[in-house]
Parts: sequence; C-alpha cells; structure tokens
Amino acid sequence: MLLCFPEVLSAATVAEFRQRLDVADWVDGRVTAGVQSGSVKRNEQLPEDHPLARELGQRILDVLSANALFLSAALPNRIMPPLFNRYAGGGHFGVHVDNALRTPKGSSMLRTDLSATLFLAEPDQYEGGELIIETPFGAQEVKLPAGHLVLYPSSSLHRVAAVTAGARVAAFFWIQSLVRDNEQRAHLFDLDQSVQSLAAHLGVDHPEVVKLTGLYHNLVRRWAEV
Ligand code: NI
Repeated sequence: MLLCFPEVLSAATVAEFRQRLDVADWVDGRVTAGVQSGSVKRNEQLPEDHPLARELGQRILDVLSANALFLSAALPNRIMPPLFNRYAGGGHFGVHVDNALRTPKGSSMLRTDLSATLFLAEPDQYEGGELIIETPFGAQEVKLPAGHLVLYPSSSLHRVAAVTAGARVAAFFWIQSLVRDNEQRAHLFDLDQSVQSLAAHLGVDHPEVVKLTGLYHNLVRRWAEV
C-alpha cells in the first residue's frame, strides 16, 4: 500500500524549516546506509544527532501524532526520529531496499515496516528527484508538493532519480507498526475508513456501526504486536 498524505506541514512551517535547513551543516548521506545501499547512495544528510534534525524531527512527529489518517494507515508502534536529506548536482539513490532493523541513537532496535518521505521542496524547484517505488502494479513515481508525505512498505525496492537541477530536500523516517503484515494493515485501514464514513452517516451508536467497530478492534487484537 502506497499512500500520500497532503499538507502534513503548512506552507509557513515548510518555509521556516527550509530557512534553517538550507544553512545547516550537511554531511555525506552514506553515514546511515547499509553495505548494498551505501554503494548506490549519493546525497547529503544532516547527522542523526544534529540539534536541528532533532528539533525539526520532533516537530514532524508531534504533527503526525495528531494526524488521524496517518495513525489509521500506519498504526505506529515506534517511529525513528526523522532524518533530513538533500539531493543536488546529480545526487541520486540507486535501487535498494531499506535495512530491516535500525537502532536510533540512545534507543533500542526497531523493525522497519514502513518508510516515509516528507517533501520539503516544491516539485518545480528541482529537476528529477522522483521517488520511484516498485509495487505489485508496477513502478510508481512520487514527487509531491512541499509539506506532503508518502508512506510505503519498507520491503519495497525503491530509488531516487538523479536531481539534475535545483535541490530536493526532504525528511525521511521509518516506522515499526503494531501490525507487521502489510496486507493485514491495509485491511484494517480500509475497514477503519469505512466504519468512520458509516458512523458519519448513521451515527456512532448505530448497531451495525458498533458491530463493525467491534470487528475492527477484534482484528487489531488478533494481529497487533505490542
Ligand atoms: Ni530507501
């Protein structure tokens, strides 16, 4: 399941982030890559423990913790502190799959079930830079407006096309979901969205809405790992 979330950050917040990120100290992006992905990665990142990355990353997590659609889709158990990257001057990231396990600094290991990219540059500010994700229905190219986020299974092969003009700035992070299996999580998301839509039409106390809400929770009980 590949999902896009519009306007996770407002235009004003994106502008503030960019003002501060554009003058930050960027380093070679291979610091967080594995052996295979490191060989195909050409970009810059803010160091994981950079105070600006910590501060802006926490603000992204605060916003997402109040985003009902994101919570319904991701069912997050733990989220890695967001990192920030920049592609310019031909920078790219060749085809790879994200590491299955990651250990945030000062924390315990988490499993990467979902990968997220939050775009921080407008599509017309750079050439190339599409995030290209292999899906069962073919490759999907993603290049979203600034402030929008894409969520996709970390198990997907994906790449970032070369940026041939301008700069592509983004935040990216991984999520360990309460529900590891992508299909089970997608079923729960569909059911939750339908229950909410039915509840809006029929009322939350309608007997069938109550039964479907119960079904949702019973499936979460069956599938969630905490
Ligand atoms: Ni990746």
